[in-house]
Amino acid sequence: TRSPTASAGMEPAAHVLVFPWPLQGHINCMHHLATALLDAGLHVTFLHTHHNLRRLATKPAPALSQPRLRLLSIPDGLPEDHPRSVAHLNDLMDSMRTTGSAAYRALLLASSSNKDGHPPVTCVIADGVMAFAVDVAEEVGVPAIAFRTASACSFLTYLSVRRLVELGEFPFPSDQPVSGVPGMEGFLRRRDLPRAPRPAGSATDDCGVDPMLLNMGECTVHSGEARALILNTSASMEGPALAQIAPHMRDVFSVGPLHVAAGTGTKSTAPTASLWREDDGCMAWLDGQQDRSVVYVSLGSLTVISEEQLAEFLSGLAATGYAFLWVLRPDMVAGGTTTSLAAVKTLVGEKQARVVHWAPQRDVLRHPAVGCFLTHAGWNSTLEAAYEGVPMVCWTFFGDQLINSRFVDTVWRTGVDIKDVCDKAVVEKAVREAMESAEIRAAAQAMARQLRLDVADGGSSSSEIKRLVAFIRDLL
Ligand code: UDX
Repeated sequence: TRSPTASAGMEPAAHVLVFPWPLQGHINCMHHLATALLDAGLHVTFLHTHHNLRRLATKPAPALSQPRLRLLSIPDGLPEDHPRSVAHLNDLMDSMRTTGSAAYRALLLASSSNKDGHPPVTCVIADGVMAFAVDVAEEVGVPAIAFRTASACSFLTYLSVRRLVELGEFPFPSDQPVSGVPGMEGFLRRRDLPRAPRPAGSATDDCGVDPMLLNMGECTVHSGEARALILNTSASMEGPALAQIAPHMRDVFSVGPLHVAAGTGTKSTAPTASLWREDDGCMAWLDGQQDRSVVYVSLGSLTVISEEQLAEFLSGLAATGYAFLWVLRPDMVAGGTTTSLAAVKTLVGEKQARVVHWAPQRDVLRHPAVGCFLTHAGWNSTLEAAYEGVPMVCWTFFGDQLINSRFVDTVWRTGVDIKDVCDKAVVEKAVREAMESAEIRAAAQAMARQLRLDVADGGSSSSEIKRLVAFIRDLL
């Protein structure tokens, strides 16, 4: 069969298979990347797992109706009733490496010819967390680019894991300075280095060198074997880290923040890729609040806290007197959310607090009533807050979040890092500071202005998207 052709009518069409690690924070930004590629005229196959595609399909408006987009899925290899939670990430990694990988290989082989009006797949953009996805694509003759969903500063830290272990600086949590990550010698402490997820409520110093962290280090090094690396960041935010990474990769594209279409500078029109149903009733509640009077609290898609930690957060927030909007996922509090909801009602009542299972976060952060964001400093959340100029209070749970929060506090000065300290007095003080500090607000707004320039036509990230599209077309 003849390939469908590009709009010029002559050249074969570029068709990218986008393959995220099947968790919410990874799906979101790869989804935005897919939107940018579609906007540039490429064909895209977005590869979910069966489990996630079923979750997306049960929501009221799942349709992705763009004709050049195809959604496909493969098994993740886990039983349907497996929790797929943060405590079981190794199960997911193992089963994706075996069952998922075999299905992915078969799908790539089948995609070498035209299917359902789509041209053959000409390039893979795979989540770099899955090194196998790069290797399998290249083995079957499809060029592969690695995409990492986290910050450049965390990528550089993972790239330095071997050195950190050699120096004995990893993982012991303390305030001692770290010398093993180039360019960060002046401000990085051991307690800012990535940490494995902890059981809810566990002490802060019980984290050995988890195999997951070593594996992250290995797959980060492995991204150097892909045709290029894409990072959801901008040169203005992370220029020094990007410069340190570049010599280790074949090429690096810094295209973020991707949740605003980097090619056009306009708000992304990407349909939502939320695995949870968004409760947008909170937007009307926000409409009824004064400007900059509300603390938005969300700890992302994976964080799990204990009831004691919830109580500390709640008491600290209540003591500030500010109203707050809290995202309390059904699986977020060890022991269940029923008692937690009752606790919120007893302590503060409906007027001061609104609780939702899942919020339309980008709309919430854009709302003028929001004065600061109490967050786990996941990279998507960090970028979304940065783009809206919202000051942050960072309480971190695992992985890249620990280093992101250090940058927020010490490098960008757009928020306050309480790291892993969950104590009501600390929460109260940090929230007051983020709500009231003119310096923090000014830094956050300056960063937002710069990011708007970066994604506008001619800005650094917008230009990087164009360069990436040209790079993909050149692979044909
Ligand atoms: C994790 C890592 O922490 C992150 O750094 C990495 O890049 C991806 O994996 P997660 O913990 O889920 O992700 O956090 P984050 O990166 O912040 O992503 C959460 C996403 O869910 C954000 O895009 C946020 O807008 C969205 N979200 C969160 C909602 O849409 N509604 C909510 O109520 C909460």
